[in-house]
Amino acid sequence: MIRRLVIFGGTGDLAGRYLLPGLAALHETGRLGPDFEVVCADRKGRGDEQFRAWAAIQLDRHAPRISGDTRQAILTAARYQQADIQNPAQVAETIAGAGPVAVYLALPPVLFPTAIQSLRAAHLPVGSRLVLEKPFGEDLTSAQMLNRLLADLVPEHAVFRVDHFLAMTTVQNLLGSRLANRVLESLWNSAHIAEVEIIWDETLTLEDRAGYYDSVGALEDMVQNHLLQLLCLVAMEPPITLSERDLRDRKVDVLRSIRTLTDDDIPHRTRRARYSAGVIGDRRVPSYTDEPGVDPQRRTETFAEVHLAIDNWRWAGTDFVLRTGKALAADRKEVAIHFRPVPHMPFGHHGSIAPNVLRFGLDPEDLTLALTTIGAAVDTLVPVTMTAPIQPPDLPAYGRLLLDVLLGNPALSIRGDEAEAAWRVVTPIISAWTRNVTPLHDYPAGSLGPAGTAPHR
Ligand code: BG6
Repeated sequence: MIRRLVIFGGTGDLAGRYLLPGLAALHETGRLGPDFEVVCADRKGRGDEQFRAWAAIQLDRHAPRISGDTRQAILTAARYQQADIQNPAQVAETIAGAGPVAVYLALPPVLFPTAIQSLRAAHLPVGSRLVLEKPFGEDLTSAQMLNRLLADLVPEHAVFRVDHFLAMTTVQNLLGSRLANRVLESLWNSAHIAEVEIIWDETLTLEDRAGYYDSVGALEDMVQNHLLQLLCLVAMEPPITLSERDLRDRKVDVLRSIRTLTDDDIPHRTRRARYSAGVIGDRRVPSYTDEPGVDPQRRTETFAEVHLAIDNWRWAGTDFVLRTGKALAADRKEVAIHFRPVPHMPFGHHGSIAPNVLRFGLDPEDLTLALTTIGAAVDTLVPVTMTAPIQPPDLPAYGRLLLDVLLGNPALSIRGDEAEAAWRVVTPIISAWTRNVTPLHDYPAGSLGPAGTAPHR
């Protein structure tokens, strides 16, 4: 296990909100040794005292349930270092120490190429690991370029292109439900499944993230990574083991079998929109274009929907709908598996009976199955819903990700060729949207989305 973590961008939102609390969870569950060290580096030049006060506030705010011992242990293990990632000498000073180090680039992606070059010039110790947040590149070409730079720095198994969705319990539970239950596998194909909806509807708005979000938009922020990853877990063939090679090979198979969308498909297979002023609950929300830091000329979408087809034996004929949006009426975060109707209904005429739906709730985390049974009145059919809560995880998603990094298990991070395969799916859509092949619609904040958005079913 690597015992040193260096976070560049170590006093930013990601570090404070997720990484320090993730480390605290590792300590709390006895997974972090006593000699663990975390260096939080940035170029601002804070004093040590100021850093400690900041770190304590972050733990109190984002990990309020940890014990006093854990809080103290993390504050003792953490130290601050001033370093500009563009300055190899400062980077060398920051990573200096005994043995390999895990380096976390909690930085704007535009800095990744420079960061990788600085780490190379700073002679990253042999056996070190590198963690990058999404988005990995901004299209296929830039992702390929980043992969080439990384290959000159560390071996592929030491690169962690993290996607925190893969470490969520219910996402893991997609695998558990599929692969540990015989009853599902025989139905898991296009003969029985008409549609898979992968939905991440948020009531959250921009939340002061214009600096990042306005240059990516919903498609690159969510679909290219999180939602395509969910699609892979739903659609992949059962892997031999859950080791990094088996799991990632099967995910790449899925990405490679997604039919490439052409300019002819894109207007009727994709939708994009951005929110205008509205009300969510009792919150009045300004129009996206009036949010501080947004450049309306960029025409950034806050809602994206894509209908994909998978050209392989198992899935030919099933529609995969990937959808996400901000500032919507309600949070709906789930993978819904819509089964086909029964081939024959021997009960006479009973109106339309909804086909079965299996739902993997991602937040809140639960598993729901909608079935039809006989009702109380003679000859009636009624829907019933069975819901099972998922056991709460002992580690938050970032705790699990950090543990894998420190232990050197990249199974839940994205392999280089996988990142490129995901960009191959999304790049034609980005290109078409840039040329306005699909119109950019508006939707009022607090609504279901732009006109035509399918209601929850
Ligand atoms: C992030 C996106 O990766 O995931 C956000 O950048 C999104 O826009 C978020 O809101 C959703 O995940 P979580 O776990 O923060 O709810």
